[in-house]
Amino acid sequence: MSETVTACPRTLEISVLRHNPSDPVSTPRLERFEIEEADGMTLFIALNEIRENQDPTLQFDFVCRAGICGACGMLIDGRPGLACRTLTRDLGSRVTLAPLPVFRLIGDLSVDTGEWMQGMAERLETWVHPREQEPDLGALEERMEPALAEQIYELERCIECGCCVAACATARMREDFVGAAGLNKIARFRLDPRDARSDAQFYELIGDESGVFGCMTLLGCEDNCPKNLTLSTQIAFLRRKMLIAAS
Ligand code: SF4
Ligand code: F3S
Ligand code: FES
Repeated sequence: MSETVTACPRTLEISVLRHNPSDPVSTPRLERFEIEEADGMTLFIALNEIRENQDPTLQFDFVCRAGICGACGMLIDGRPGLACRTLTRDLGSRVTLAPLPVFRLIGDLSVDTGEWMQGMAERLETWVHPREQEPDLGALEERMEPALAEQIYELERCIECGCCVAACATARMREDFVGAAGLNKIARFRLDPRDARSDAQFYELIGDESGVFGCMTLLGCEDNCPKNLTLSTQIAFLRRKMLIAAS
């Protein structure tokens, strides 16, 4: 008779770097929580369980729980990742969680990526600049080649989670670096036939150390992008195009 082997449920030790910058007496510290692992448990579920049963003051962000909103980025054992897409079974029984660096800390694991992303978007003007001042809204949209639409869609998959920025040493050193997320936006709008900006205008936006020339090809962005965007390829492509245009 065959015997069914069931794995023993593990006790997970989750250490969280905690700090509330708006509380004058708060100091950064690691706090350890223990929970029983369940089948298919994600870090989202684990953190919720901790908040519900052990510490209601624990701060972290979630909206979609499906890898779509980008709200749950955090350092998981030192690497940026999405907590809602991380299964505890893929981690050791001791896990350390910390907030993403670079972004303004709200408290514990919650950071304000929106403020950073908005600053980058305003600086790079990450919206379509139409060819006409007042486009005729009643006119039919021009047809876009499916292959081009596909290319744009691929770059549009960014969920602005901030993992690429948190993984990048340049972004940690230079406040004005637009990061792989910003350079990916330029690659996206440069392809868009509805955008009136010329290549020269795009290159003007990113042609210095806060743009493509700040990138040291460290590849942390691409290695840690949960949407698997080919970020370093996009950056290298833009840089090459700019050098050709300048020669
Ligand atoms: Fe997140 Fe990837 Fe977008 Fe960076 S490029 S913000 S890692 S989805
Ligand atoms: Fe940073 Fe990615 Fe360049 S990690 S240095 S933006 S290749
Ligand atoms: Fe939306 Fe994780 S909760 S990406």
